[in-house]
Formats: sequence, structure tokens, C-alpha cells
Amino acid sequence: MELRVERNSDVDSWKEVVLIYNSALKQISVKLEILNDEFQHVHRYNPIEHIKSRIKTSESIVKKLKRYGYESTIENMVKYVNDIAGIRVICSFTSDIYEIAEMIRGQSDIRVIAVKDYIVKPKPSGYRSYHMLVTVPVYLSDRIVDTKVEIQIRTVAMDFWASLEHKIHYKFEGNAPDYIKEELIECARMSSELDERMLSLNKEVHSIGEKKRA
Ligand code: GTP
Ligand code: MG
Repeated sequence: MELRVERNSDVDSWKEVVLIYNSALKQISVKLEILNDEFQHVHRYNPIEHIKSRIKTSESIVKKLKRYGYESTIENMVKYVNDIAGIRVICSFTSDIYEIAEMIRGQSDIRVIAVKDYIVKPKPSGYRSYHMLVTVPVYLSDRIVDTKVEIQIRTVAMDFWASLEHKIHYKFEGNAPDYIKEELIECARMSSELDERMLSLNKEVHSIGEKKRA
């Protein structure tokens, strides 16, 4: 069942919507923790460094709807704003990102609606990350609601870059001077190279370990 807003009072409906999105975030977080524990058990290491989640503020939901040209109703929020519930998964290596994405895809109750791979194709800003829009069923007392969650999966380096870029974007209200934008693009290139080198270094160390055990 899709999320439907049935109550008359807007305040009540909004509270119900927030409760459902919060439950969806909890569901996804627990799933990720279980996958991480299992991975630790099988491969002796944790692909996930940490997880952050948030519910978008009503102000920024309204701002987004305005940008899209929709009226600010709860129905429109649920229908058109895909990142009301957002979860960010930070891992060490780029390869972890694809492993985690695969594990999420493999869960039978999760439906993947869209994927954006900004690692294969970074944004012009230099932004890199792997985005999945999924739905997860939330079990209420009288119904099951399929709820949208935006999952962003990125390495520590990608996250470091994105937080600084976000701060700069905010400070200059989206109009940072060209030399700063260029420097950010250069930093993105360096962080991408760092990710690649750390991954090959890790692979190298692994294969040495394996040879020793053989
Ligand atoms: P919005 O950007 O949220 O309007 O939706 P979209 O459909 O363009 O989705 P997209 O996948 O491009 O981006 C969604 C989210 O990714 C954003 O809300 C940010 O959290 C993050 N993001 C996307 N681009 C950038 C970027 O250039 N810099 C930073 N720091 N974050 C970004
Ligand atoms: Mg965007």
C-alpha cells in the first residue's frame, strides 16, 4: 500500500507521516547493521564505517515542492519529495559501496525504484556518491505502508569532500567564486585518486596475507 493521508487535520497527518518515515529509517538502519555484522562474521571486516540518518525538515520539503512547482500539501510531499527519509552509509573503500548496494538489492522486501551512480559519472561540481531510492514496508497496526527512503552510499573521502562542498555552497548561496569551484573540482579529483590508491593498497595487503596463509 502506498502512503495515503486520510486524517482531516494537517497537523495529525503530518505527525503520522513523520512517524512512518522514521519507522522506515529504523527498518533500513537495522537491515544495514545486520548485513554489517554478517559481513564481519564471514569476511572478518566491517564494510560500514558509520550510518547517519535524518528526516527532512518541513521547511526544506516546502522549499523543494515550490522549486518543483507543486502546492505545499502533505499528499504532494509524499508523492514528489523522494528524500523525506534519508540515510547515509559511509564506508572505507569504493568496492564496499557496491557490495552494500548489492546486499540491499538482495533483500526481498526492499524495492529499488531508482539508482544514481555519481561515482561512475560524477556531477559537474565533482560530487561523488552512490544513490538508491528504495521503498521499505512499514508495518502499522492496520496496514502495511511502502515508504520511500533515499540511501546515499559513499566512502569517507567522498563524504569529507561533500560536507566541505555543502558548507561552501551554503556560504555563497550557490554562487561560489570560480577559483573556489575549480579548487573543489581538483579536490574531488584528488579524493577519487586517493580512493583508488587506498583500494589497491588494501587489495595488495590482502593478497600478501593470503599468500602467507597458503
Ligand atoms: P535534489 O538535489 O535533492 O533536489 O534531488 P535530485 O533529484 O537532483 O537528486 P540527487 O541524487 O542529484 O541529489 C540528492 C542529494 O545528494 C542531495 O540532497 C545532496 O544530499 C546530495 N548531493 C547531490 N549533489 C550534490 C553536490 O553537488 N554536493 C553535495 N555536497 N551534495 C550533493
Ligand atoms: Mg540535486
